[in-house]
Amino acid sequence: MKIMITGAAGFIGSQLAYRLWKDNHDLILIDNFSYGKWDNLEFPDHSFKKEIIKMDIRDKEGIASLLKAGDVDYIYNIAGIAPLPDCQSDPVEAISVNTMGLVNILENARLYGVKKVIQASTNAMYENEEEFPTVENNFKVPTLIYPNTKYCAERFAESYAKTYGMNITCLRFANVYGPHIDCLRKQPPFVAYMIKELYYNRVPIFHSNGEQRRDYIYVDDLIDLAIKVQDSEGFDCVNVSSNINYSVNEMYEIAQKIMGKNIKAEYASDKHYWEKYPDLYKGKFTIKDAILEHEINKYSLCDNSYAKEKYGWVPKVSMEEGLKRVIEAECKLLESIDNGEVK
Ligand SMILES: NC(=O)c1ccc[n+]([C@@H]2O[C@H](COP(=O)([O-])OP(=O)(O)OC[C@H]3O[C@@H](n4cnc5c(N)ncnc54)[C@H](O)[C@@H]3O)[C@@H](O)[C@H]2O)c1
Repeated sequence: MKIMITGAAGFIGSQLAYRLWKDNHDLILIDNFSYGKWDNLEFPDHSFKKEIIKMDIRDKEGIASLLKAGDVDYIYNIAGIAPLPDCQSDPVEAISVNTMGLVNILENARLYGVKKVIQASTNAMYENEEEFPTVENNFKVPTLIYPNTKYCAERFAESYAKTYGMNITCLRFANVYGPHIDCLRKQPPFVAYMIKELYYNRVPIFHSNGEQRRDYIYVDDLIDLAIKVQDSEGFDCVNVSSNINYSVNEMYEIAQKIMGKNIKAEYASDKHYWEKYPDLYKGKFTIKDAILEHEINKYSLCDNSYAKEKYGWVPKVSMEEGLKRVIEAECKLLESIDNGEVK
C-alpha cells in the first residue's frame, strides 16, 4: 500500500512513519521542517528509509505532483501547528496551516482518488465542555484559535465527505506523549518539560497549583487506532484518549519515582505561562486573564467507547510504562546533545 504522511519529521508523524514502514508500506513522507527535525527519523533499526520531502502542505502543485500518479491509497495529515500559544500569537499562519492546509490535501485527494484521508484533530476543541467524559457529538464550539483551526478543518473535511463521497476520519487526539515529544522547543509540552528539568536537576515551575487534570494517550496506542480506521467509510470523528486523566502533580510524582529524584516543584501564576508571548499583550485589545486561567486549569477527560466499540481498539500502555519509555528516550537525547552545556 502507498501511504503519504504529512508532518513526518514531527513527534507523532515520525513514529507513525516508522510503524507503517515496519508494516512494509510504501511511504511518501513530507514536512516543511517548521517544527520537525531530521533526528526524529533516526530509529534503532538503521535500515529505516529516511527519505523525506521538504514540502509545505499548502503547496498546491507540490502536493498534486506527489499524488497525480493516482497510486496513493491513504493520507495521514499529521502536519500542523500544535503549540496553542503559537497559534494564538499568529492566527493567520495557524489557520493557513491547520485549516487551509487540510483543504489543499483534501482537494488533491479528491482529484487523484485517494481512498482515505485521516486528519490529526484534537480534543482541545472540547475546551468549553462542562460534562465529562466528553463524547464526540454535541459539544460547545471552541473559543481559542488553535482548537478553532482544527474545528474548522473538521467542518471542511465533513463538507468534502458529503459533497464528493470521500472517506475521511478526524482523530481527536487527547494529550499525546511518547518518545520524540519535543523537549527542545521554546515552550515544551508538559511531559517533555518535566523530564528535562528533572534530568538537569532543576526545580520545575508548574502553573496554577498542579491539580489540573488532563487525559493522556501514549503515541503507540494512538498509532494502533490510526491504522484501524484506515478502511472505515464516510465521515467520522473519533476520540483517541485513554479515558483516564492525571494531574500535573500525580505525573510529576510518577516521573520522579522512575528517575530516582526528589525535587520539590514550584508553582507560578496562570499568566506566567503566557508572558513568553508578548504579541498577545500588544494592541488595544489584549488576551483576557479569564481565558488564560481557563486554559491552564482546563479539565479534560474524553470518552473512548466509540473507538473501542467501532474499531475494537483498546489503549494498552499505562502511564507508568509510557513515562518510563519517554524518560529513557528523552534522557538519551539530552545526553547526546549535552556536552556539559545545560540547555
Ligand atoms: N501532541 C499532542 O498532544 C497533540 C494533541 C492533539 C492534536 N495534535 C495534532 O497532531 C499533529 C502532530 O502533533 P505533534 O505533537 O507531532 O507536533 P509536531 O510539531 O512535533 O509535528 C508537526 C509537524 O508538522 C510540520 N508542519 C507544520 N506546518 C507544516 C506545513 N505547513 N507543511 C508541512 N509540514 C508542516 C512540523 O514541521 C512538524 O514536523 C498536529 O497537527 C497537532 O495539532 C497533537
